[in-house]
Amino acid sequence: MNITRVGHACVTLTGEKNIMIDPFITDNPSAKLNLDQIPKLDYIVCTHDHFDHFNQDVITLAKRDDAKLVAVHELTIKDEVSSSGIETIGMNIGGTYQDDKLSISLTPAVHSAGAGDPSGVVVNQNNTIIYHAGDSAVFSDMKLIPELFGAIDVAFLPIGGHYTMDEPAAAKAVELLNPKLTVPIHYDTWPPISADTGKFIELCKKHKVQIIEPGGSINL
Ligand code: NI
Ligand code: MN
Repeated sequence: MNITRVGHACVTLTGEKNIMIDPFITDNPSAKLNLDQIPKLDYIVCTHDHFDHFNQDVITLAKRDDAKLVAVHELTIKDEVSSSGIETIGMNIGGTYQDDKLSISLTPAVHSAGAGDPSGVVVNQNNTIIYHAGDSAVFSDMKLIPELFGAIDVAFLPIGGHYTMDEPAAAKAVELLNPKLTVPIHYDTWPPISADTGKFIELCKKHKVQIIEPGGSINL
C-alpha cells in the first residue's frame, strides 16, 4: 500500500482499493496537490464534518469517481450530501464496513462536530492496518484499538494542538497505540496549530516517527 499525505489531515491510501481520509484540497493552504492529481478513489472517509475534513471536495471527488462516502450516519444525511446523490455508507462508532478487499471501522474520538459524533478510523487493507485519529484529544481507551483491530502499521495523529492533541498528548497516544510507525498530521496549516516536529519525535522516544511533508508519499 502507498500512503500519500495530501496536506493537513488529508491522506490517501492506495492499493487494490483507493481510499481518501478527510479530503481537504481546494481551500487547503498546505495542500501541494490539486484534485486532478488525486487517483481514482473507491472510498472517501470523513472523520467529522468540520470544514477541514468535510467540504465540497468530498462531493466533487465522490461524483468524479463514483466513490462511496463512509462516515457517521448523521454526516451522511446532511443536506449537501443527500442532495448530491452520492452513495454513502453511514455507520456509527464501533461499526465496521466490510468489502472483500478491505474493512473500514469507525473508532471513538474526543472532539466536537456539527452532525453526529466525531470519529477516528481504522482501515485494514490486506492486513496492513492504518489508524487515523481524526481531530481527537488523547484518551486512555486508545489502547483498545490495537487489541480490537490488530497491531497498527501506521498511525496518523494530530499534533498541532488548539483543536486537537499537541506534541506531548500525541506522544502519550503513541504509547497507548504502540504503532509501528507514526505520521503526524494537522499541524502548521495555520498559525494556531503550529507544531514542533522535532520535539514530537523526541517525546516519542523509541517509537518510530516519520514526517511526510504535504504531497509526499511512502510505500508500505
Ligand atoms: Ni475538527
Ligand atoms: Mn480539524
